[in-house]
Amino acid sequence: MNEPSSSSELRPVRVWDLPTRLFHWTLALAIVGLLITSKIAGNALVWHMRLGLLVLALLVFRLLWGVVGGHWSRFARFAYAPSTTLRYLRGEHRAGDHFDVGHNPLGAFSVFAMLGILVVQVATGLFANDEIATTGPLNRFVSESTGIALTSWHKGPGQWTIIVLVVLHIGAIVFYRLRGTGLVAPMWAGDKLLPATVPPTLDGVRQRVLALVLFAACAALSVYIERLGA
Ligand code: HEM
Ligand code: HEM
Repeated sequence: MNEPSSSSELRPVRVWDLPTRLFHWTLALAIVGLLITSKIAGNALVWHMRLGLLVLALLVFRLLWGVVGGHWSRFARFAYAPSTTLRYLRGEHRAGDHFDVGHNPLGAFSVFAMLGILVVQVATGLFANDEIATTGPLNRFVSESTGIALTSWHKGPGQWTIIVLVVLHIGAIVFYRLRGTGLVAPMWAGDKLLPATVPPTLDGVRQRVLALVLFAACAALSVYIERLGA
């Protein structure tokens, strides 16, 4: 592929397919809901666990979509070598780079970090125990001390790492905006203004049906895990 900024003729190119965008905004709302429901006593924990299981389904979906999803949503498109990330930070661009199309090396780093810590948070939540009336669905499969240890990660370092990463994430988006690069509109509507030579992500009916089928399977997995706790 040619260096995107080498051509002067720009046109809207689909970069984020609908499944990736729905994944993103549903995840963001669910995380806010999880943090709120975790702070309210009583029945809110029931909703906390429902939202947690939704995030489980979303994460498994995104891991699959990172392999079979749209061109720019695939992990292979933004798994940069450390040397490439350093080059990006030094502002050295080479022909063939596509830093301004999908996730740039810094964005990619934050995406992998967020997905990783969210997987750990959901996993520890599944084994959590509030020592009053609510337990995660897999708590009964571990000893009491293991359940308590996983709960303290979930309530402590897990929670705070997520909050720090989300604040950095939003800070980075504001920083790029101030430097003249708007990232939010493409994550909302799907397109970026790019040279005509940049290949678009396929975002047609076939891809969307595939995403729906995959998400249905991920949701079924979540329901199955929830029922293990019954
Ligand atoms: C709890 C809140 C949030 C979480 C957990 C979160 C998580 C993520 C994740 C995982 C991605 C990667 C998307 C993918 O490739 O699948 C991403 C990208 C993105 N997010 Fe968020 N997000 C949150 C809130 C927000 C908010 C409030 C905004 C808007 C101000 C935002 C704007 C974006 C944008 C523009 C990208 C694409 C960045 C790029 O072009 O590299 N996010 N976010
Ligand atoms: C990314 C997803 C999640 C986030 C951000 C999150 C966040 C939190 C936070 C911050 C607390 C501590 C509340 C406090 O301060 O006392 C908490 C507690 C809890 N969470 Fe999650 N959680 C997530 C996923 C889950 C999942 C998937 C489950 C189980 C299905 C779960 C079950 C629980 C339980 C049972 C507690 C109560 C622990 C206690 O208060 O002792 N969480 N969660």
